[in-house]
Amino acid sequence: MLHSPAVYGIFGYPIGHSLSPLMHNTAFASHGMDAVYVPFAVDPAQIETAVHAIRALHLQGVNVTIPHKQAVMPWLDELTPEARLIGAVNTIHLQDGRLRGYNTDGIGFLRSLEEAGAEVTGQTVLLLGAGGAARAIAVQLCLSGVQRLYLANRTHSRARDLASFLQEHFAHVEISVIALEEPALATCLPQANILVNATSVGMQPHDVSPVPSIHLQPWHVVCDIVYHPRDTPLLQAAQRQSARTVDGLGMLVHQGAKAFEIWTGLPFPIPLIRATLLEALAGRGT
Ligand code: ATR
Repeated sequence: MLHSPAVYGIFGYPIGHSLSPLMHNTAFASHGMDAVYVPFAVDPAQIETAVHAIRALHLQGVNVTIPHKQAVMPWLDELTPEARLIGAVNTIHLQDGRLRGYNTDGIGFLRSLEEAGAEVTGQTVLLLGAGGAARAIAVQLCLSGVQRLYLANRTHSRARDLASFLQEHFAHVEISVIALEEPALATCLPQANILVNATSVGMQPHDVSPVPSIHLQPWHVVCDIVYHPRDTPLLQAAQRQSARTVDGLGMLVHQGAKAFEIWTGLPFPIPLIRATLLEALAGRGT
């Protein structure tokens, strides 16, 4: 009888630049598993059919990326509490014929912070951004016992909407919205232990830091979700002030690690994956 490998994949549109196939195929190979991870370009008009195809084709696990993270949700059998709160799914697991939706972005971010030795419980965090990534991080911070959370976003109303949503679900966290402008950031930062950039500012080469280095202090932990370039203008500004930095590669690796654990029950070879990604990103240039 012919043996076929276990098939995993990622749904996105477009999908050409995703690093997930490289990460997961490297992890499968390191465990000697007979499994393959495939990028699937799924047209938004076909997303319902694609989710049903997971069951029909026995795909063991699927990651979901832009623009499908919300669109897949109605077609799944179950959602974890995190996925429900974040309002997006980035990982689907087929188990006993049922499709379960997870969101591993928030936990991926938290693990990258922990890897850098930073603690969230009881801390004050300033989070820049109010998009999908910021929402996943904000929910995870609240679940992990952050004491005070400041939100700042270019479009103020988006930050306000996110703050009211969070306050409704996490009454014990003190949540405030501030302007994404230098005077407000300068007033807020002395009270914050952790600064997180969850906007796309800093992604382009020669882009600016969303926070001038003068407002950063050695006690700050400064995180950027942007991973290309790896040393973003914000992280460079933080290094100049001797602040501890957490780069965006950590969140990428750890969200993948959590998905891999959900699917296989096996550990992700973190150092190997990080080295493989660094090599791939170096090949892409800036
Ligand atoms: P993601 O899912 O990656 O979070 P997104 O939902 O499009 O993507 O969110 C992008 C974030 O980057 C938003 O917070 C956006 O601010 P707006 O809500 O005002 O759009 C922020 N962003 C993008 N470009 C920006 C810029 N040039 N200056 C400031 N913020 C920017």
